[in-house]
Amino acid sequence: MIGRLNHVAIAVPDLASAAATYRDTLGATVSSIEDQPEHGVQTVFIDLGNTKVELLGVLGASSPIRGFLEKNPAGGIHHVCYEVDDIRVARDRLVAAGARILGDGEPKIGAHGKPVLFLHPKDFCGTLVELEER
Ligand code: CO
Repeated sequence: MIGRLNHVAIAVPDLASAAATYRDTLGATVSSIEDQPEHGVQTVFIDLGNTKVELLGVLGASSPIRGFLEKNPAGGIHHVCYEVDDIRVARDRLVAAGARILGDGEPKIGAHGKPVLFLHPKDFCGTLVELEER
């Protein structure tokens, strides 16, 4: 069911500093910082050709990565995102298999303008999984 790895998301306490590390130390081409107010994060995108890295910074008091950064003050891998052909078909199959979908179970438009869902980490090897429609 799942297809390509769309991105690995890394939550960081200082987005500008993290972007500089990827640009200057690792030699990556990084995007500018973008606000994603519907998701409570700021993002920097790094296109690696075969996949992407997304650096996530806090945006707003109720940012969903705030708790993660309290537990991981230096930052860390926050989620992985896999592509699926049809997000509602994928969701229905996962729910039928007993997996938990975060939120109200309805896809939201993600940072790339495509429908996304998040799956409970306890059902997927301790890793928060995002599904994005291809
Ligand atoms: Co993501």
